[in-house]
Amino acid sequence: MVKHILLTGGSGFIGSNFVRFVFNARPGVKITNLDALTYSGNPENLADLEHDARYRFVKGDIGDAPLMERLIGSGEFDGVVHMAAESHVDRSIMDAGPFVRANTLGTQVLLDVLRRMQVRHKEGKGPPPPRFVYVSTDEVYGSLPLEDKSQLFTEETPLQPNSPYSASKAGGDCLVRAYHHTFGLDLLTTRCSNNFGPYQFPEKVIPLFVTNLIEGKQVPLYGVGANVRDWLHVEDHCEAVLTVLERGVSGEVYNVGGNNERSNLELTHAILAIMGKGKDMIRNVEDRLGHDLRYAIDASKIKRELGWQPTRSAWPKALEATCRWYVDNRKWWERVKSGAYREYYERQYGTR
Ligand code: NAD
Ligand code: DAU
Repeated sequence: MVKHILLTGGSGFIGSNFVRFVFNARPGVKITNLDALTYSGNPENLADLEHDARYRFVKGDIGDAPLMERLIGSGEFDGVVHMAAESHVDRSIMDAGPFVRANTLGTQVLLDVLRRMQVRHKEGKGPPPPRFVYVSTDEVYGSLPLEDKSQLFTEETPLQPNSPYSASKAGGDCLVRAYHHTFGLDLLTTRCSNNFGPYQFPEKVIPLFVTNLIEGKQVPLYGVGANVRDWLHVEDHCEAVLTVLERGVSGEVYNVGGNNERSNLELTHAILAIMGKGKDMIRNVEDRLGHDLRYAIDASKIKRELGWQPTRSAWPKALEATCRWYVDNRKWWERVKSGAYREYYERQYGTR
């Protein structure tokens, strides 16, 4: 079992859920969270754990090679879970630069630190490099047809990313593959479908729609809402990542998904029903450029080989619980939508 994890991007949606999940599932494990606190990094997500002896926060950018060298090269971690990324497709369509820098080049910086540790270790001059899990996405596979539901993404599906976001994540995927193949580093990759749950930044469809409805605003549905996503509860994803870190086979890729395909229109109708609102609250807006039609994951490998199963994603209960979380935690997302959450960071860590 790992003892001390370096988590990158731990102040975001999945990262903050991962910290809570690991502390509950493995009470003896320590986590250092390295996060640059970009717009989607919110230290309030983990405010209650700030004084937990198992938790440490380091503000920093994965692209800062000297800092990464000092941090990872210290040898205090036996596992790295790499989640830090620019994560929103619409933002990548507006400006791809930050995506390539964080998702592709940032991943390369981390891999180069591991490579240098490996060289020093072989010379008897330092600790071995830690095991490293790259948290990738199903979007690297591109898009499936809407008509043929028998088609799913497997780990053998070629990478055909369609958005600047997925292309930059695929850049990281390819580097992880190459550094394992060339240098024999202990690297693994997960490719997960769409997550939902607490603390998701309200630019993503579920928290955006739920919080808009609470505010009495309409929900902007792209096109006619025919696009399909495969929804998984964030804690099921966290459990999959921990499982891969603990028991995955070095160099392997593991797909993660919930067999829970919903069209965006179906999702929107479900949210409206839960929130007690009518269809008049839907506003059909211009479609996303290059909008991928359908994502659907075949997760049989991680189930068969590592015994992982999704247990928290059953629809509509899991969606109802998520909507309820946003109803009950209005202060959290109001501070995000208004930008006030940035003040918390400035109070704790100085100016951004
Ligand atoms: P998020 O945007 O909520 O969080 C990203 C975090 O990374 C933020 O805390 C941000 O401050 C940090 N970050 C960004 N650039 C950084 C940098 N250069 N250095 C250090 N920290 C940086 O994203 P999320 O939805 O939690 O996604 C986390 C990871 O999971 C991403 O790698 C994403 O590609 C992947 N993923 C997400 C989903 C999903 O549905 N949300 C599904 C599959 C995979
Ligand atoms: O599949 C995994 C990916 O899921 C992750 O890798 C990404 O980081 C994550 O952001 C998510 O990408 P999507 O583009 O699928 O998520 P988003 O919530 O942005 O959109 C979900 C669907 O809802 C998509 O088909 C577009 C649609 N949509 C989205 C928004 C924000 C709307 O119809 N209206 C909206 O306002």
